[in-house]
Amino acid sequence: MDFFNLFCLSWLDLLFFLAIGGVIYMKKRSNKAKRAKNGDFKGKKILITGGTSGIGKALAEKFSKLGANVIITGRDDKKLQEVSKTIDKCEGYVLDMENPEEVEKWCENNTKNLGTLDAVIHNAGLSMRDLFMNTEIKLGQRLLNVDFLSIFAMIQGLMGNMRTDEQGSVICGIGSLAGVSGAGVRSMYSAIKGANDAFFKCLACEIRDKNIHSMIVHPGYIQTNVSQNALVGDGQKSFGKTDSNIKNGLPVEDCVNQIIDSIVLRKTEVWVCKGFGMKILMFISKIFPSFLDYGLYKNLNQQLSALKKAS
Ligand SMILES: NC(=O)c1ccc[n+]([C@@H]2O[C@H](COP(=O)([O-])OP(=O)(O)OC[C@H]3O[C@@H](n4cnc5c(N)ncnc54)[C@H](OP(=O)(O)O)[C@@H]3O)[C@@H](O)[C@H]2O)c1
Repeated sequence: MDFFNLFCLSWLDLLFFLAIGGVIYMKKRSNKAKRAKNGDFKGKKILITGGTSGIGKALAEKFSKLGANVIITGRDDKKLQEVSKTIDKCEGYVLDMENPEEVEKWCENNTKNLGTLDAVIHNAGLSMRDLFMNTEIKLGQRLLNVDFLSIFAMIQGLMGNMRTDEQGSVICGIGSLAGVSGAGVRSMYSAIKGANDAFFKCLACEIRDKNIHSMIVHPGYIQTNVSQNALVGDGQKSFGKTDSNIKNGLPVEDCVNQIIDSIVLRKTEVWVCKGFGMKILMFISKIFPSFLDYGLYKNLNQQLSALKKAS
């Protein structure tokens, strides 16, 4: 007995059910899209680390426009004051993330002031631009502290501040597509961002019962100062230039719109980049890992030429 006889179905019945399924799916998608566009953050309290430049600053500006009370952090008090002055309902807190133990203390000292948080976006981060053979352990240690251990410490330290009522809250990591696929001249950075990817997923299952949603956003090339500030060699110096990949990347405003929509929709893992090409390549490489090996080998020349064209 074949499938159709077993369930007394014809091809037409099957097509009918598929069409109904398609309509329901499209309807749900369009509701979701509407919900994202109309995301209302009035009165919500949102903490964004690294809110003094690039993605963090643009997130703070956008959340404030959507009605949120925004808290931003950064290392430089002067820069923090300058930025928070330009954003409505924005407060700046000095926080250096080089030392995870200091981050633990910062959380203890500020628990009361911060109050109940609706979302924390762990955005502060440092990148690198150097070949594996030129990358010293010291650089790795700095990246590990800023890009992973301090985030870990901060999430533990602020867990008691997260909203756990029926509205719930969101803990959002900012990873990198380099942490999903790997990338030339960013070996240590990619490894640490990959650790974030796994960490935010582990966290999700442990805090789900508390109505706290853990998610990670992986940006591709976004037009910010990330490569200017990226470390080289022993981690004491910055690259100091904008490489051409970043220069031609996605405008930061488009990036934050996608991040905010994905927070509204409580997505789990989000890839944010210019066009579909990179996403399709990443998707194919998940299915055919050897394609990824070859792609990254080819991409290395492109990365090196982007560094040469840096200005
Ligand atoms: N732009 C991209 O193409 C791209 C791609 C993938 C992932 N990302 C990720 O996106 C996040 C934001 O980067 P961005 O592109 O906006 O770069 P950015 O313009 O360089 O901003 C980095 C932010 O992190 C803060 N920060 C750096 N080191 C810190 C430290 N030791 N302690 C505390 N804060 C520190 C900086 O604040 P202060 O200097 O004021 O302290 C600044 O606000 C990072 O996690 C980055 O890895 C960016």
